[in-house]
Amino acid sequence: MVNITIVGTGYVGLVTGTCLAEAGHKVICSDVSEKKIAMLKAGEIPIYEPGLKELVEKNVKLGKLSFTTDVAAAVRANDVVFSAVGTPPDKDHKADLQFVRAVAKTFAENLTGFKVFVNKSTVPVGTADMVSKVISEITEKEFAVASNPEFLREGCAVEDFMEPDRIVIGTEKEKARELMKQVYAPFEKKGYPIVFTDIKSAELIKYASNSFIATKISFINEIANFCELVGADVKAVAKGMGYDERIGSKYLHAGVGYGGSCFPKDVKALIESGKENSFPFRILESVEEVNEHQKGLGVDKLKAKLGSLEGKRIAVWGLAFKNKTDDIRESPALTAIARLLEEKADVVAFDFAAMDNVKEQHPEFSIEYASEMYEAAKGAEALLVMTDWQEFRFPDYAKLKEVMSGNVLVDGKNCMDLFEAKEAGFDVQGFGQKLSEKPMLEVIVR
Ligand SMILES: NC(=O)c1ccc[n+]([C@@H]2O[C@H](COP(=O)([O-])OP(=O)(O)OC[C@H]3O[C@@H](n4cnc5c(N)ncnc54)[C@H](O)[C@@H]3O)[C@@H](O)[C@H]2O)c1
Repeated sequence: MVNITIVGTGYVGLVTGTCLAEAGHKVICSDVSEKKIAMLKAGEIPIYEPGLKELVEKNVKLGKLSFTTDVAAAVRANDVVFSAVGTPPDKDHKADLQFVRAVAKTFAENLTGFKVFVNKSTVPVGTADMVSKVISEITEKEFAVASNPEFLREGCAVEDFMEPDRIVIGTEKEKARELMKQVYAPFEKKGYPIVFTDIKSAELIKYASNSFIATKISFINEIANFCELVGADVKAVAKGMGYDERIGSKYLHAGVGYGGSCFPKDVKALIESGKENSFPFRILESVEEVNEHQKGLGVDKLKAKLGSLEGKRIAVWGLAFKNKTDDIRESPALTAIARLLEEKADVVAFDFAAMDNVKEQHPEFSIEYASEMYEAAKGAEALLVMTDWQEFRFPDYAKLKEVMSGNVLVDGKNCMDLFEAKEAGFDVQGFGQKLSEKPMLEVIVR
């Protein structure tokens, strides 16, 4: 059992702290946000993340997990200190490291004996050196810095943390390596691969991984756009590609592009890191460009069907950047809504978890919020689907048709059965889907 402190109790910090407690350690989660910590102490979870509430409750009850706003005391208490603060993009698209710097300062000021500063946040190569410098300028006491990037996906974060594809640990001091081995011993026992490497490589593994996935998404989106021109079907193309083990079937889903708190900012930050080293990341520049273009295509498709959108009632299903989360950071739905408002459409939106976040963070959106998915569609001339919530995948098309005034349906996530929708009388449009006739797609596996 290792005594662990987490600094920054957001999506990553809370999941990390809770899952490390679940794995057998004793964890203090700290945060400067009085509101978040008060909620957690009251047994409420500040974010929407399936399965997390039960795990928090269980580990708090067992005395393995606690919460505090006293970050300094939390640092003093334990020898392994995870920093899981945000690294949002700054005005130049670089990772803003002010929160990481602040944690390094608190760590240095509260260094009572040897401690490891573990960077869980996604940070550019060289950040560990910066952290070491900040700490060394404040104290002469012995410490180590480790890089342990996180790969969890919101919506299945608990599962991703407890059953990781791999754990990456960058360390350069033996003492730190030993402590990190103890932290991840429960996972090593279960056979999950642990990749020990130097710190800079660990830092880059995270950016390279996210940028690679983003590349896959932009690639299939370009193929989808080409499919529309030549009469092929992207779902069939992706299926045929995905069976190739060198390619794999994941993240080959065409649609309105990627969003969220990670891919957009990490791709941009890696491009900027490249520039700082006079290295042009040509592939990533294109990945970004394709994604920006893709985010507006849903509205273009509506316009192609309806002509001017002025004064037309458009329903938007989905605000979160993906299903099973309330996270709206860089959500393509926000781009679509901004475009719809520019086109002077009347927008009515519905999401299962993200409406409060949009209301709070985008007061400039003069749109209606519906209390339920069919309510949003009531009287709408068109429906634009921007998040692949399970309920949106399989709607009651007859009911939908009845409540809407029009019949245009644009599936921005390619997640619906558009042939069923067509049969119900909808004028449908997906991304790269062949809709004139059902595409030939049969897979025979012996
Ligand atoms: N969200 C994801 O899906 C995900 C996945 C993998 C990696 N990451 C990375 O993990 C990091 C954290 O992301 P997140 O989504 O959890 O961010 P978040 O904004 O949800 O959480 C960050 C928390 O840090 C707190 N904080 C800021 N400064 C602090 C300080 N000085 N002391 C204590 N607490 C402080 C904030 O109050 C906030 O609660 C980022 O680098 C992100 O790129 C995120």
